[in-house]
Formats: sequence, C-alpha cells, structure tokens
Amino acid sequence: MKISFITLFPEFIKSYIQTGLLGRAQLNNIFEFEVYNIRDNAEGNYKSVDDTVYGGGDGALIQYAPLKKTLDQIELASDSAVIYLSPQGRPLDSALINELKNKKHLVLVSGRYAGIDQRFITRHVHIEVSIGDYVLSGGELPSLVLVECLSRQCDGVLGNQKSSKEDSFVNNFLEAPQFTKPVEIDGMTVPQVLTSGDHKKIEVWKKNMSVLMTLSKREDLIASHDHINWPDVLSFYNSLSEEDKNLMQIHHLLEKIKKYSL
Ligand code: ADE
Repeated sequence: MKISFITLFPEFIKSYIQTGLLGRAQLNNIFEFEVYNIRDNAEGNYKSVDDTVYGGGDGALIQYAPLKKTLDQIELASDSAVIYLSPQGRPLDSALINELKNKKHLVLVSGRYAGIDQRFITRHVHIEVSIGDYVLSGGELPSLVLVECLSRQCDGVLGNQKSSKEDSFVNNFLEAPQFTKPVEIDGMTVPQVLTSGDHKKIEVWKKNMSVLMTLSKREDLIASHDHINWPDVLSFYNSLSEEDKNLMQIHHLLEKIKKYSL
C-alpha cells in the first residue's frame, strides 16, 4: 500500500514512519511512504500558506492553492482515497480500518491552524476522518494514528498475525486480561487455566473474558453483538473463583450478566 502524507511538518512524519513497526513495514515493501510539504507549493517571499477566515473567526486557514498544487504532485489512481484528518470526520474505528486496508493508495492531508478551506474538502477529499471528539493542533498525529492502526491489520506487518486478531476492538470486543511471569506476585496469582496448558480451555476462557471485559468497561459495544450466548457467559462467570473475579476487577458483574441472560 502506498501512503502519501500532505503536511506542513514533514520532518515530524518522517521521523515517526522510520521507527518501529512502520519502519520495518517500509523496509519489507508492505508500505511505501512519501511525504509532501505544503510549504513547497507556497507563493511569495514569505512562503505563506494560510490566511484569515472570511466572515470572521479565530485563527487562519490553509489556502486552497498550495494544497491543490501539492495534491497535483501526487499520482492518483482510480482507487486512491484522499483523506482529510479533522474533528468533523467519521470516527476512526475498526470498521473504517477494514474498509481502508483494501485500498492501494491513501493520501493523508493534515491541516494546521484553524483548518483548511472547505473548497479543498468539497472538491478533492473522499473521506474526512476523526480520531476522537477532541481538538488537536493539527492532523499529523491523527494521520499517524490511522496508519499505525492500519498497519496492525495488514498482513506481514506484525511478526505474529494472531496477536492483531486478538487486539481489542478487532471483533468489537475488548481483549481478555493478560499475565506474564511470575505466576504469583504480591498475593496475586495468574488464573489457573492459563498455566494449565489446556489450549481448548484457554480459548474458551479468553472468549468469555473478552465478553466480560467488554461488559465491564465498554457496555456500549455489547449492543453491536446479537450472538452472545448469555446463559453460557453466566455459567462461566459463576465458575470463576472470587480471587479471579477480584483479580480481573469483575466482581460486580453478576447483576448485569443476569439482565442480559433474561
Ligand atoms: N485534527 C485536529 N483534531 C483532530 C481529531 N480529533 N481527529 C482528526 N484530526 C484532527
């Protein structure tokens, strides 16, 4: 997949995409990154790219012309998607990531200041994407957030593909709690099933714990699932020891599970 960044802070983007997972994905030819500086297409001595807002309003907007000239430098194909990162966009979630991961080319446009001229969005942007209901100073971090989410779902980026399938949200469930050595510390013991070596039991445990974690921390996600076998979840919950319920902070869930089991 080719990813073209349009930004006023190319160095920031470049330094991030060279490191870690994204750097490796680039070396392995899974991603091809290119970074375009809007300022390179500014006119005049001051290389200004922004101006005040018609009708009044705080701050300045990036103008249409330098954005359009920058976009014109990029070779677009019929399935290229031009994405503008903004708080007004479609919320980034795993459904959107799944749609985007089939594209061959993404162009990620980062705004700064108070945003960009609406005419650029209307004419050239296919999808506006938001990473949450808060306002950042620019689209650079959101564009990197998007690429990093995407990379975790693209084949060959993670060494262990299974681990991204177990990521929270991939199936709209949160993931089960995880533990590492030692088995016991400060009076807390890893749930016995996880050290049993019984893979089938462990799988069942993880699935049920995913449901319980989601119910406990993000009950709003439960509504998107209509195939949860609540009587099974209830008997799983009842089979847990008090110690395990306390360890995973789910001792308060009985009434909620009963409500769904009705
Ligand atoms: N630019 C500024 N804030 C943003 C947000 N929350 N999501 C995407 N882009 C942004």
